[in-house]
Amino acid sequence: MRIGIPRQTDPRQPLVAATPDTVEKLIKLGYDVSVESGAGTQSAYPDELYLAAGARIAGDDVWQSDIIATLDTPSAAARSRMRPGATLIARMAPARNPELIQELADANLTALAMDAVPRLSRAQSMDVLSSMANIAGYRAVVEAANAFGRLFTGQVTAAGKVPPTNVYVIGAGVGGLAAIGTAGSMGAIVRATDLRPEAGEQVESMGAEFIPIPVAAEKSDDGYAKEMSQSQAEAAAQLYSEQAAVADIVITTANIPGRKSPLLLTAADVERMKPGSVIVDMAAANGGNCELTVPGEVTVTPGGVTIIGYTDLAGRLPGQASQLYGQNIVNLFKLMTPNKDGQPTLDLEDEIIRGITVTQADTGAAAGAAAGAATGKAAILWPPPPVKVSATPAAAKQEQLAAQAAAEEPEKVAFMGGKRAGVALGVTIAVGVTLMLLSPSSISTNYMVLTLAIVLGFYVISAVTPRLHTPLMSETNAISGIVLIGAILVVSSTNIVISSLAFLAIVLSSINIFGGFAITDRMLGMFVKDSPALKKAA
Ligand code: NAI
Repeated sequence: MRIGIPRQTDPRQPLVAATPDTVEKLIKLGYDVSVESGAGTQSAYPDELYLAAGARIAGDDVWQSDIIATLDTPSAAARSRMRPGATLIARMAPARNPELIQELADANLTALAMDAVPRLSRAQSMDVLSSMANIAGYRAVVEAANAFGRLFTGQVTAAGKVPPTNVYVIGAGVGGLAAIGTAGSMGAIVRATDLRPEAGEQVESMGAEFIPIPVAAEKSDDGYAKEMSQSQAEAAAQLYSEQAAVADIVITTANIPGRKSPLLLTAADVERMKPGSVIVDMAAANGGNCELTVPGEVTVTPGGVTIIGYTDLAGRLPGQASQLYGQNIVNLFKLMTPNKDGQPTLDLEDEIIRGITVTQADTGAAAGAAAGAATGKAAILWPPPPVKVSATPAAAKQEQLAAQAAAEEPEKVAFMGGKRAGVALGVTIAVGVTLMLLSPSSISTNYMVLTLAIVLGFYVISAVTPRLHTPLMSETNAISGIVLIGAILVVSSTNIVISSLAFLAIVLSSINIFGGFAITDRMLGMFVKDSPALKKAA
């Protein structure tokens, strides 16, 4: 069968549903692929790359393909060029578009809504909402950093100290967690709140502080939030107001499927924020989480707060977003083409396929079969039966988080470094035991202590996050206390060489111990709210 990849019919949408990389993968599944000339240009994928990947470059005839894959549902005019019985794969927001569903049925098309993939861990690889929210969360931080007039990371420079930026994220779903990871990796201090208490663990595993809403919400059973009770809403509103007032950057991502986005920050809350602060309202397209957001625009309040309401955050990284969406499409085709023969099967017993199938074409009519058996219209299969996915999104997100945490802390991973670390440790123990056995009994215990100290030190240091290695080093400097005690014991020696060396040892180990503590104190002071170190630096 032939898959057609047309240009997006909305010229403002830069994304494309297949990249040269994903075209190759579709061809390996047995499909022919036609790409409309110029479809990938805005994502920096020229026609030549598609040709080299094995695609055919098509004109308007791309719409005659058996299967059409696009990001957004094409315009009615474009859809009218599709053959009856063909398949359309796109984002369709079927819950909000009953007229569209009827039109797709009337045109006898099979319609698969990529934005209706259920939140199952098995479906994660096809979930376009997660792919786009992930990119949007990253881009939200980049936009915030661009609008914010300071560094994210705290620094001690010759010209004075720079305090770290405080970022507060409301809503720790896919987009929120991506924003937390990005802001944290840029050196900011990140705090986050979510309606779902179970999100706390995920926030903390990314190195951010979770600030719960004082009145707990019901546990989610479908991976999405439920609406809040009155008491929760009041407690949450107060928390958001307080946190926004002390934050430098607030990123709001709160979303409740099928409803307008909840209002989290009122005009009065924004007024209390510091001049120069930035709000990125990721929910702008769906009404916004901030009262003052203008969808698609950047506005600055009279109090100097910048509010970013871009609704195309993922589209601002088109090459990456197209690649992830293209991979979502490939993963869907892998599921539908188990025999890799280029013949998709629509297995409605599969809850993922059932979940995304909005209409199913009457192929009897499309093939011109005997009238009577054929209606000439597709069957409407929307809405699908509910899918219970309790705990699975958490598991899926946990996998994503583990991968992100690993990417974020390369030093730690390198230090723990699997095989190499194991071999080094094994060699150390073997050398220590050999020395113990070969040396006279008077010093063999010293080798035992040394070996144990190395093994213990390895495990202690590898359990500490790399960001805390500096304070850890100054704590271990205190071990110089042993040198200090030894030096004090011999400093009164009548031998001038011994007493001079002991005096030198006292001076150097004192610098080591007290200097280490002083530097740690200064460094930790920068992370304490309202600390004199922070105020002085500001
Ligand atoms: P999600 O549903 O995975 O996460 C939303 C989170 O908000 C959930 O964890 C939920 O528990 C939490 N939440 C809901 N109401 C809350 C409240 N009152 N207080 C605190 N937390 C609350 O959604 P996802 O996929 O992470 O998307 C986040 C937002 O980003 C959505 O609004 C989505 O429409 C938007 N988005 C925007 C894009 C853009 O270009 N601007 C692109 C992609 C997504």
